[in-house]
Amino acid sequence: MSITFQKDLEAKGFIDVPIDPTVDLVQEIKRLKHEKNAVILAHYYQDAEIQDLADYIGDSLGLSQQAAKTDADVIVFAGVHFMAETAKILSPTKKVLLPDLKAGCSLSDSCPPHLFAKFKELYPDHLVITYVNCTAELKALSDIVCTSSNAVEIVESLPLEQKIIFGPDRNLGDYVKKKTGRDLVLWNGACMVHEIFSQEKIDALRETYPGAKFIAHPECEDHILASADYIGSTSGMLKYTIENESNTFIVATESGILHQMQKANPGKTFIPAPPNNACACNDCPHMKLNTLEKLYTCLKYESPEITLPEDVINRAQRPIARMLEISEKLGL
Ligand code: 13P
Ligand code: SF4
Repeated sequence: MSITFQKDLEAKGFIDVPIDPTVDLVQEIKRLKHEKNAVILAHYYQDAEIQDLADYIGDSLGLSQQAAKTDADVIVFAGVHFMAETAKILSPTKKVLLPDLKAGCSLSDSCPPHLFAKFKELYPDHLVITYVNCTAELKALSDIVCTSSNAVEIVESLPLEQKIIFGPDRNLGDYVKKKTGRDLVLWNGACMVHEIFSQEKIDALRETYPGAKFIAHPECEDHILASADYIGSTSGMLKYTIENESNTFIVATESGILHQMQKANPGKTFIPAPPNNACACNDCPHMKLNTLEKLYTCLKYESPEITLPEDVINRAQRPIARMLEISEKLGL
C-alpha cells in the first residue's frame, strides 16, 4: 500500500477511493469473496444490504463461534472493532478485515483498560468476567469473557462462594445479578443505544397495540427491562419472535435486527421501541459506519486490517476460550 493510501486510511478509517459507478457492488463483493476465499461475518445491527451478503449473521456469541471454526483465509467482519478483534484473537493466523476501523463501541469506550486494571486491584480475591463488548486489552485482563447469550449461565457455572467483578456493562451486570441472586461488583459502563429508550413512548405503544409482546436486550436500563415480556440477546429475541404466537412485537434494541425478524416472520409486525429523542427507532452510529461501498473496498484492497500485539492475543485467548468451552458444554 502506498504512503498516501496508508495516511488516508489512518485519518478516515477506511479505504476512500472513487468507485466506478457502473460496478455492481453486490456481484463484485461476491466475486472477490470467492476469489480470496473470504467469509463475511455480519452482526444483526448491520444494514439490511450487508446482512443479505453475509455468509453468517448472528449475535456476538454466534459470530465468535464462527470466527473460531472458519476455514476461510480472510474474515471480513461486518460489525464493530471489538468484534473484529475477537475474531483476530480466535483466528490469529487469518487476515481479519473491518470495513471501517472507526466503527467503535460506546460501551467498550466506557471502560479504559488502564482504569479497569486499577479497579481490579481493589478486589484481589475476585474473578473477572468481562462482557465481550470491550477491547482486546480488557479481555486480556479478564478470567472469563461472556456475551448476552451466556452471561447468566457463565456466572451460574461458578461456585457460589466465588467473588466476581463484572464489566463493563452495568445494565447487563444488574440483570445477571437479579437472575442469579449473586452479588457482583460492577463496572459503571453502558451502551449509548440501549440507554435512551423512552418508557413513556413504549407505554403509549403498548396501549395502542395491547396484544403486542415487548422484547428487550439486557443492555437496556432496569426500568425498561422490568416491563419486558422477554429479555435476551439479539439471537434470543429473534428466536422468541419465531416461537411466540403473538403477531406484533415492540423491539427494544438496535433497529438492524428487525430485518431478520421480518424475513423470518413475514406475516408479523415489528415496531422498533422509540428512544428519548425525535427519532422513531434506535440506530448504533458505530455499526452504521459500515456501508456496502466500504465492504467492497475493504475486500478489494484487503484493508483496513485488524492487527494486535502477540502478547495481547495470547492473554486474551484464554478467557474467550473459557467462554466457548462453557457455552459448548451447556449447548449454547
Ligand atoms: P448481542 O448480539 O450479542 O446480543 O449483542 C448486542 C450488542 O450490543 C452488540 O454490540
Ligand atoms: Fe456498542 Fe451499543 Fe453499538 Fe452494541 S449497540 S456496538 S454495545 S454502542
